[in-house]
Amino acid sequence: MKIDCQLNGKPKEFYVSSDIPLLQLLTEYAHISTLHPDCGKGMCGNCIVLLDDLPVLSCLIPAFEIRGRQITTLERFQKTRDYTDIIKGFERTDSMPCSYCFSSKILLAHGIISRNVSPEPDEILQTYSIHACTCLDVSQIVKAVAQAGTYRGRRRRYARRK
Ligand code: FES
Ligand code: FES
Repeated sequence: MKIDCQLNGKPKEFYVSSDIPLLQLLTEYAHISTLHPDCGKGMCGNCIVLLDDLPVLSCLIPAFEIRGRQITTLERFQKTRDYTDIIKGFERTDSMPCSYCFSSKILLAHGIISRNVSPEPDEILQTYSIHACTCLDVSQIVKAVAQAGTYRGRRRRYARRK
Protein backbone atom coordinates (compact mmCIF):
# COMPACT_ATOMS: atom_id res chain seq x y z
CA MET A 1 0.00 0.00 0.00
CA LYS A 2 1.21 3.53 -0.76
CA ILE A 3 1.34 5.75 2.33
CA ASP A 4 1.72 9.50 1.70
CA CYS A 5 2.63 11.70 4.61
CA GLN A 6 4.83 14.58 5.67
CA LEU A 7 7.83 13.37 7.61
CA ASN A 8 9.91 16.01 9.33
CA GLY A 9 8.50 18.69 7.07
CA LYS A 10 9.05 16.84 3.79
CA PRO A 11 6.53 14.96 1.63
CA LYS A 12 7.21 11.22 1.67
CA GLU A 13 5.77 8.10 0.10
CA PHE A 14 6.21 4.67 1.59
CA TYR A 15 5.22 1.37 0.03
CA VAL A 16 4.53 -0.85 3.02
CA SER A 17 1.89 -3.12 4.43
CA SER A 18 -0.90 -0.87 5.75
CA ASP A 19 -0.89 -2.34 9.23
CA ILE A 20 2.80 -2.23 10.13
CA PRO A 21 3.34 0.05 13.13
CA LEU A 22 4.46 3.61 12.48
CA LEU A 23 7.48 2.78 14.65
CA GLN A 24 8.61 0.12 12.18
CA LEU A 25 8.02 2.42 9.23
CA LEU A 26 10.15 5.12 10.88
CA THR A 27 13.03 2.93 11.96
CA GLU A 28 13.21 0.42 9.10
CA TYR A 29 12.01 2.42 6.11
CA ALA A 30 12.75 6.06 7.02
CA HIS A 31 15.94 5.30 9.00
CA ILE A 32 15.00 7.49 11.94
CA SER A 33 17.68 6.92 14.58
CA THR A 34 16.56 8.97 17.60
CA LEU A 35 14.02 6.39 18.84
CA HIS A 36 15.13 3.62 21.19
CA PRO A 37 12.08 1.39 21.49
CA ASP A 38 12.13 -1.40 23.98
CA CYS A 39 8.85 -3.25 23.91
CA GLY A 40 6.81 -2.62 20.73
CA LYS A 41 3.66 -3.00 22.82
CA GLY A 42 2.88 0.38 24.39
CA MET A 43 4.71 -0.44 27.62
CA CYS A 44 8.06 1.38 27.65
CA GLY A 45 7.11 4.80 26.24
CA ASN A 46 10.31 5.08 24.24
CA CYS A 47 8.81 5.37 20.78
CA ILE A 48 7.06 8.73 21.03
CA VAL A 49 6.83 10.96 17.97
CA LEU A 50 4.58 13.90 17.13
CA LEU A 51 1.60 13.12 14.92
CA ASP A 52 0.06 16.42 13.81
CA ASP A 53 2.01 17.98 16.69
CA LEU A 54 0.60 15.62 19.34
CA PRO A 55 2.80 13.01 21.06
CA VAL A 56 1.81 9.41 20.27
CA LEU A 57 3.29 5.99 20.93
CA SER A 58 4.39 5.11 17.42
CA CYS A 59 4.36 1.36 18.11
CA LEU A 60 0.56 1.55 18.53
CA ILE A 61 -0.24 3.54 15.38
CA PRO A 62 -0.83 1.47 12.22
CA ALA A 63 0.79 2.91 9.11
CA PHE A 64 -2.54 3.51 7.33
CA GLU A 65 -3.47 6.06 10.01
CA ILE A 66 -0.69 8.43 9.02
CA ARG A 67 -1.87 9.01 5.45
CA GLY A 68 -1.98 12.74 4.77
CA ARG A 69 -0.69 13.59 8.24
CA GLN A 70 2.45 15.17 9.64
CA ILE A 71 4.97 13.17 11.62
CA THR A 72 7.78 14.90 13.47
CA THR A 73 10.65 13.18 15.19
CA LEU A 74 13.45 14.60 17.28
CA GLU A 75 15.59 14.92 14.14
CA ARG A 76 13.48 17.91 13.07
CA PHE A 77 12.10 19.03 16.40
CA GLN A 78 15.58 19.71 17.76
CA LYS A 79 16.01 22.44 15.16
CA THR A 80 13.09 24.47 16.55
CA ARG A 81 12.84 27.16 19.20
CA ASP A 82 10.17 25.03 20.89
CA TYR A 83 12.90 22.48 21.51
CA THR A 84 15.15 25.11 23.04
CA ASP A 85 12.48 26.04 25.63
CA ILE A 86 12.32 22.41 26.72
CA ILE A 87 16.03 21.79 26.86
CA LYS A 88 16.49 24.92 28.93
CA GLY A 89 13.78 23.71 31.30
CA PHE A 90 15.42 20.31 31.77
CA GLU A 91 18.90 21.82 32.12
CA ARG A 92 17.83 24.50 34.58
CA THR A 93 16.25 21.90 36.86
CA ASP A 94 19.08 19.42 36.47
CA SER A 95 16.69 16.80 35.06
CA MET A 96 18.22 15.91 31.71
CA PRO A 97 16.93 12.51 30.50
CA CYS A 98 19.35 9.79 29.42
CA SER A 99 20.03 9.28 25.71
CA TYR A 100 17.80 6.20 25.73
CA CYS A 101 14.56 8.06 26.53
CA PHE A 102 15.60 11.58 25.55
CA SER A 103 13.49 11.90 22.42
CA SER A 104 10.29 10.65 24.05
CA LYS A 105 10.60 12.77 27.18
CA ILE A 106 11.28 15.94 25.17
CA LEU A 107 8.33 15.37 22.84
CA LEU A 108 6.01 14.60 25.75
CA ALA A 109 6.98 17.91 27.33
CA HIS A 110 6.20 19.66 24.06
CA GLY A 111 2.73 18.08 24.02
CA ILE A 112 1.99 19.45 27.48
CA ILE A 113 3.28 23.00 27.18
CA SER A 114 1.84 23.47 23.70
CA ARG A 115 -1.60 23.17 25.31
CA ASN A 116 -0.81 25.01 28.51
CA VAL A 117 2.36 26.83 29.51
CA SER A 118 1.41 26.54 33.19
CA PRO A 119 0.47 22.87 33.57
CA GLU A 120 -0.59 21.44 36.91
CA PRO A 121 1.69 18.76 38.38
CA ASP A 122 -1.11 16.19 37.96
CA GLU A 123 -1.32 16.86 34.24
CA ILE A 124 2.44 16.39 33.88
CA LEU A 125 2.43 13.21 35.95
CA GLN A 126 -0.49 11.75 34.04
CA THR A 127 1.14 12.46 30.69
CA TYR A 128 4.46 10.96 31.76
CA SER A 129 2.77 7.89 33.22
CA ILE A 130 3.03 6.33 29.75
CA HIS A 131 6.79 6.36 30.15
CA ALA A 132 8.33 3.52 32.15
CA CYS A 133 11.47 5.34 33.36
CA THR A 134 12.20 4.67 37.00
CA CYS A 135 15.65 6.24 37.15
CA LEU A 136 14.54 9.89 37.16
CA ASP A 137 12.43 11.08 40.09
CA VAL A 138 9.00 12.17 38.83
CA SER A 139 9.25 15.36 40.88
CA GLN A 140 12.22 16.29 38.67
CA ILE A 141 10.09 15.84 35.58
CA VAL A 142 7.37 18.03 37.06
CA LYS A 143 9.90 20.79 37.74
CA ALA A 144 11.52 20.46 34.32
CA VAL A 145 8.26 20.66 32.37
CA ALA A 146 6.97 23.54 34.50
CA GLN A 147 10.22 25.41 33.87
CA ALA A 148 10.02 24.67 30.14
CA GLY A 149 6.46 26.07 30.19
CA THR A 150 7.74 29.24 31.81
CA TYR A 151 10.30 29.68 29.04
CA ARG A 152 7.70 28.96 26.36
CA GLY A 153 5.24 31.43 27.90
CA ARG A 154 7.89 34.14 28.12
CA ARG A 155 8.90 33.66 24.54
CA ARG A 156 5.30 33.82 23.34
CA ARG A 157 4.66 37.03 25.27
CA TYR A 158 7.81 38.57 23.87
CA ALA A 159 6.83 37.57 20.31
CA ARG A 160 3.37 39.15 20.76
CA ARG A 161 4.90 42.45 21.87
CA LYS A 162 7.07 42.73 18.74
S1 FES B 1 8.12 0.59 21.82
FE1 FES B 1 7.63 0.52 23.92
S2 FES B 1 5.88 1.82 24.06
FE2 FES B 1 6.32 1.77 21.96
S1 FES C 1 15.10 5.84 31.06
FE1 FES C 1 16.13 7.69 30.57
S2 FES C 1 16.25 8.83 32.39
FE2 FES C 1 15.18 6.98 32.90
